[in-house]
Amino acid sequence: MRTVLLGAPGSGKGTQGKKLSERFGIPKLSTGDALRAAVAGGTELGKQAAPFMNAGKLVPDQLVYGIVEERLGQADARKGYILDGFPRNVAQAQVLDAMLARLQQPALESAVHLHVDDEEIIRRLLERAVQEGRHDDKPDVIRHRIEVYNAETHPLLAFYQAQGKLKTVQGTGTIDDIFQRVVAAAGG
Ligand code: AP5
Ligand code: MG
Repeated sequence: MRTVLLGAPGSGKGTQGKKLSERFGIPKLSTGDALRAAVAGGTELGKQAAPFMNAGKLVPDQLVYGIVEERLGQADARKGYILDGFPRNVAQAQVLDAMLARLQQPALESAVHLHVDDEEIIRRLLERAVQEGRHDDKPDVIRHRIEVYNAETHPLLAFYQAQGKLKTVQGTGTIDDIFQRVVAAAGG
């Protein structure tokens, strides 16, 4: 399985990606998790990324390419992988295709779009704010993340549709029911 999970903030990319990784024994790469680890570790990358993340903006593309190429270049990713939160705009999607060619890996197989309406997204993220205290789960930042998704990431649906790779699944319901849909959509 070589798939990317697409969807608005809070649509369940991390939740479903983890389950796919466990079921299929392939790595999941979340650029958001990697960036948060860099921020927590106080690295140069983390210092550059933090202001963008806290404001709910995308970090500059160049900051994420190194993370992705390094991870996809590791031996365990040759069997397959799940991408969560990358690519996030059309430029990143084009770079991903070039990167896979450079690593002599097969092309991406599918892009699974988790469709969840804004009301449910806001409900989930406000709940997570209480439980986990993620810095970007604040009402005004959540609103901006949704705007950024609509402006920059949503165009990827058409990009992958044109390649015949897009599968949209309903992202509401129980986590297990959604997982069945995601597995079917990703061709697992
Ligand atoms: P990132 O970490 O990718 O955040 P995001 O896209 O905003 O998405 P989330 O992680 O909030 O949600 P999710 O879809 O993973 O949902 P989850 O499973 O957690 O990015 C953060 C920031 O990093 C960006 O804003 C940007 O600054 C930067 N960044 C990252 N990648 C980048 C890139 N490629 N380029 C540039 N910048 C980048 O679920 C959400 C909540 O809902 C959880 O609490 C979960 O338990 C709950 N939940 C899940 N499923 C269900 C369900 N079925 N029913 C009820 N609740 C559910
Ligand atoms: Mg996530």
